[in-house]
Amino acid sequence: MLLSGKLSILGAFGLFLASSSAATSLTSTGFTSTVNGISYFSPPKSVGTIKLGKGVSVEAGSYVPVTVVTTSSDKYSASDLSTTLKSFGAKDDVYQDAFSQITYVQYTGGQPKDPKYKGTVLTTKTTAAAAIPNGPYFLSSSGALFKAYRLYSDSIGAFTEGVIVAEDGSGSVLPAGVAGQSVAIAVPSRLYYTATEAKPLAGVRLGVKDIYDLKGLKTSNGNRAWYHFYPEANGTAPPVQNLIDAGAIPVGKMKTSQFANGESATADWVDYHAPFNPRGDGYQQPSSSSSGPGAAAGAYEWLDIALGSDTGGSVRGPSQVQGLFGNRPSHGLVSLDHTMPLSPQLDTPGLLTRDPVLHSKAAKAMYKANLTFVNEYPKDILLVGFPSTATSDSERILLNFVSSLKSFLSGNASVFNITASWLSSRPANAPADLSAFLNLTYPTLITKEQIRLVRDPFYADYAKKYDGRRPFVNPTPLSRWAFGDNTTETVETAVANKTVFMDWFNSKVLAPAPKTCSDKILLYVGSTASPSYRNIYLPPPSVPFGFSSGRYSVLSETPDHVIPIGEASYNSTITNHAEVLPVTVDIMAGKGCDGMIFSLTEALVKAGIIKPTVAGGSSVSGGEILYKRGIVGSEQ
Ligand SMILES: *[C@@H]1O[C@H](CO)[C@@H](O)[C@H](O)[C@H]1NC(C)=O
Ligand SMILES: *[C@@H]1O[C@H](CO)[C@@H](O)[C@H](O)[C@H]1NC(C)=O
Ligand SMILES: *[C@@H]1O[C@H](CO)[C@@H](O)[C@H](O)[C@H]1NC(C)=O
Ligand SMILES: *[C@@H]1O[C@H](CO)[C@@H](O)[C@H](O)[C@H]1NC(C)=O
Ligand SMILES: *[C@@H]1O[C@H](CO)[C@@H](O)[C@H](O)[C@H]1NC(C)=O
Ligand SMILES: *[C@@H]1O[C@H](CO)[C@@H](O)[C@H](O)[C@H]1NC(C)=O
Ligand SMILES: *[C@@H]1O[C@H](CO)[C@@H](O)[C@H](O)[C@H]1NC(C)=O
Ligand SMILES: *[C@@H]1O[C@H](CO)[C@@H](O)[C@H](O)[C@H]1NC(C)=O
Repeated sequence: MLLSGKLSILGAFGLFLASSSAATSLTSTGFTSTVNGISYFSPPKSVGTIKLGKGVSVEAGSYVPVTVVTTSSDKYSASDLSTTLKSFGAKDDVYQDAFSQITYVQYTGGQPKDPKYKGTVLTTKTTAAAAIPNGPYFLSSSGALFKAYRLYSDSIGAFTEGVIVAEDGSGSVLPAGVAGQSVAIAVPSRLYYTATEAKPLAGVRLGVKDIYDLKGLKTSNGNRAWYHFYPEANGTAPPVQNLIDAGAIPVGKMKTSQFANGESATADWVDYHAPFNPRGDGYQQPSSSSSGPGAAAGAYEWLDIALGSDTGGSVRGPSQVQGLFGNRPSHGLVSLDHTMPLSPQLDTPGLLTRDPVLHSKAAKAMYKANLTFVNEYPKDILLVGFPSTATSDSERILLNFVSSLKSFLSGNASVFNITASWLSSRPANAPADLSAFLNLTYPTLITKEQIRLVRDPFYADYAKKYDGRRPFVNPTPLSRWAFGDNTTETVETAVANKTVFMDWFNSKVLAPAPKTCSDKILLYVGSTASPSYRNIYLPPPSVPFGFSSGRYSVLSETPDHVIPIGEASYNSTITNHAEVLPVTVDIMAGKGCDGMIFSLTEALVKAGIIKPTVAGGSSVSGGEILYKRGIVGSEQ
């Protein structure tokens, strides 16, 4: 078999070795190969066997690239085949021309008549149900077909491990590597999958923050001792399982700051190195704690969506600084079993992605019946933190967005002052100073609850096994837990204060409304392209006291979505050159009105007011990621 492409295969298939004393079974974990310099991984289980007819012979022990194509038409011609193959190349990053040297055409209707296909083509009759999915494969000398996964280097350090998930839903660590000084991630061909009603996310490539269990894999929670101490998870977290059930393909576990506490790159990240924010000069903070999901969704075109979590801002922060659509959902939409808690009263699972349409679809799959799309929108817009006039590009972008939104909704925007609003409409017995009232609510909940649910059992298990020793913990969680140890506040007082605020907010600020779900929407400023460098020495970590717009949704259990609206430039002290960073707003609505925000976002895209973002150095125009070794476009 002569190929214009260069193929080399490394690896071995299932072998059984026997020694004189005991039989040792050697299990294949698949094989790796390179075709024209692009790296591939193939799982060990073949997807089917085809009969090698005339003209095709594969040398014993080797493999050749082939493409499977299916047609139901007996008029499928050579030119149809070539059109199909061209479309494969346009749709899929795993496919390349070398796979078209041998084409396996399956027909489900009549046999194509006199097709005069060029090159070596095998044809065979099959049924739609039995057909091997279209796409690129590796063919063995015995006619077995193996899937092709393209291997990418996690060059911005966003993942903890590459993952392969078997048909039974259990995960294993990807047994492959690739150049680039980082873990390899394997993505299957997009051509294998067709979205259906039952599987709307078929083939969608998903990254999972490493606080969610995926059966068969260890979970780190961002802590080395934890990762090595506990066994592989015996179940999968419901948000992950719901996405898998809808067809999503988990491709890796992703970095989290330790125990999902807010950490800044670089000094806070003792156990693992913080991911690199791909935007701008490449040395901006990736935010916390879903920094792996945020950095990867901003950097990799080959990754479609990532699952993060938001307790106090951990989906929103990374989405704001990496220019992504990201949501903190209403609290309680889906169970968080098999998920590390910070505070069950506040923890929420949210998604980060460049694509707002996929965002809605994946949210529907993850929150199921608890998400209802509403296509009528409130006309009252509350604004928090917006400038009154624009004196910079980011301010111009923010005010333009407000003005477009106002005309889109035929609505009214007014400045919302929560301090004044609380003063005038707070419940009778509530203290007048809102900031003092809620100052300790968040830190009390996250520290007391994480101490009880995570730290204490971990310390006890570790001490028992290791003669009273303590596991290593990063400075940030330690400083927060120390507050929790010493404060005289209790979970009960924190919940009581949260409830007073929540009941007020959900009736006086963002109240239910019949057609539009929420009577108003509230906008606050997300990110304004102001740099926050990761190579700056910071003061020691502290406890997250205080109250600000980012806490409204946390304490009122309302949805809060990050919407990228553009980018603005800054003068980088790293590159000594102008660079660009994302500008974003947050849109909030009443509790349970997540679906209204999703619909509104899609409607704003249709109206041309906002756009999907792109991977690369710029969230608007893409391009090379600085200081990441790499070939633009090929991302190897
Ligand atoms: C699964 O693991 C958890 C601890 O991680 C344990 O409490 C539970 O008993 C295990 N369940 C099963 C069915 O083994
Ligand atoms: C919807 O939310 C409720 C309340 O939190 C929860 O009990 C239920 O399991 C959720 N439904 C689904 C389909 O996840
Ligand atoms: C906008 O606000 C003004 C002044 O409060 C009010 O007169 C007007 O009716 C409002 N328009 C809409 C569409 O709500
Ligand atoms: C908000 O209202 C408070 C109380 O009336 C006032 O002190 C404060 O200056 C206002 N803040 C802004 C930004 O207008
Ligand atoms: C919040 O609590 C911290 C720690 O007790 C204190 O230093 C700070 O002044 C408080 N802030 C407010 C607004 O009460
Ligand atoms: C709750 O509110 C009271 C004032 O009513 C305040 O003294 C206390 O510090 C608050 N505690 C928490 C945890 O929010
Ligand atoms: C909190 O208590 C611990 C002992 O439990 C002590 O070591 C630490 O210094 C205290 N921290 C603060 C901030 O008071
Ligand atoms: C960057 O520096 C140039 C030259 O000093 C200045 O004109 C420009 O306004 C600066 N840009 C920003 C965004 O600060």
